[in-house]
Amino acid sequence: MKRRTFIAGGIATAGLAGAAWTTGIFSPLLANGATLATNAFSERLPIPPLLEDLDNAADSARFALQVQQGSRLFFQGKKTSTYGYNGNFLGPTIRVRNGQRFRINVKNSLPQTTTLHWHGLHLPAKWDGGPRQPISSGSNWNPDFTIKQQAATLWYHPHAMGLTGEQVYNGLAGMFIIEDEVSDQLDIPKDYGKDDIPLIIQDRRFLNNGQFAYVQNRHDVMNGVIGNYLLVNGAMQPVLSVHAGLVRLRILNGSNSSIYRIAFANQQRFQVIASDGGFLERPITMDRMLLSAGERIEVVVDFSATSLGKQISLMVDQVGGNRFEALRIKIDRAAETAVKIPGHLRPLDRIPASEATVKRTFIMETMGMGGGRMGMGMMSGGLSINGKKMDINRIDERVRLGATEIWEITNRAAMMMRMPHSMHLHDVQFQILDRNGKAPQPHEQGRKDTVLIPPGESVRIISRFRDYTGVYMYHCHLLEHEDDGMMGQFEVIKA
Ligand code: C2O
Ligand code: CU
Ligand code: CU
Repeated sequence: MKRRTFIAGGIATAGLAGAAWTTGIFSPLLANGATLATNAFSERLPIPPLLEDLDNAADSARFALQVQQGSRLFFQGKKTSTYGYNGNFLGPTIRVRNGQRFRINVKNSLPQTTTLHWHGLHLPAKWDGGPRQPISSGSNWNPDFTIKQQAATLWYHPHAMGLTGEQVYNGLAGMFIIEDEVSDQLDIPKDYGKDDIPLIIQDRRFLNNGQFAYVQNRHDVMNGVIGNYLLVNGAMQPVLSVHAGLVRLRILNGSNSSIYRIAFANQQRFQVIASDGGFLERPITMDRMLLSAGERIEVVVDFSATSLGKQISLMVDQVGGNRFEALRIKIDRAAETAVKIPGHLRPLDRIPASEATVKRTFIMETMGMGGGRMGMGMMSGGLSINGKKMDINRIDERVRLGATEIWEITNRAAMMMRMPHSMHLHDVQFQILDRNGKAPQPHEQGRKDTVLIPPGESVRIISRFRDYTGVYMYHCHLLEHEDDGMMGQFEVIKA
């Protein structure tokens, strides 16, 4: 078995500025991965349309999504079979406001079961859209709840038992944006599709006949399916035209299992303004970022010093994999708005560690073939949390409603399998207390729902469990790991 080398050195603890910028350690072009010709930089970046609100009252929003099969021409003359929401690949952007009643009809027109999970939303368990809420082929699902959280860039995707990875790979994912009075008032770019751009970054691997080459063998499960083609909003190496002013990018690592390092080819700096769950207290200047599968980050880039006509490339590196020129940003017109990034964004309601009354520990473990702990690892495929694989009939943790808890999550790396994991909790936005005992970097000090746990690291997070009782998931967001059982259930119970 090939090993996916993970250069953890300093990524999480020493700051990204000092992180090793390694590429080409190991080619992810594995069994059955084809190299097909593309027309790079000929297509405009597609902007997922905003989904129409079928309700014209200000305090409520009603939507309709159809989960369907489709196809797409990623390569000339080779049609790829795909899945999409209201279309062939990916889905429209859903935009709501804090306080709104949210209703949606989800119709499953796929030939198989799916679910629709609202990644990052704080919501009643029965509308979470995890594996406990299957929508069988041909049926409808009608969530109805109130948005109770601040402005943020979230997303939605399927989450059916054992099918998440494959369905996301086929194209099921979309952005979910919450706005509120703070995002309204902040003087930041907010014209969707013009200077406020969603970027769903994913990689894919194809067969020679143009079909997606999803999991081909056990290696793909353990390593994650790592692609050799990069898609942004479903397009390969597209071009985006913007003005010579401030541009906001809402970036989602929507890949199945890749960890991305993202930077501009010209080392252009940018300001990070938001993490998974909303605005940071103040913008953080950076020149590269690290995003694990499922994470989001919002940045504002200032192109006012760029001469008109110039193109700046956004580079995306898979940790331990390929380097891609993902997107060319063409600065093709004078600045249309004269805004300056505010120095303060939103105060953070920081949860003090002393508030926690319960501590839990989670060991994410990958036992490699022939690695240390033989036997069980080989039999069970080696991916587990606290030694267990997901069982929908078992509740792993019981949390009291209203409690504040600290969860210590450790990626116990074995000799042969140094895998990163990406821990995600449903229902809550947590805060990172520390990584290996050290304070997280400034851009990781805000609200989070997904956190990278490099091999050998321990991360402590703190969270309040409020408003709703019921069963939610926690899992590795490397979707091949999740589908293989690296997932558990916590139930919030009446205090
Ligand atoms: Cu984005 Cu449980 O998932
Ligand atoms: Cu989620
Ligand atoms: Cu994992």
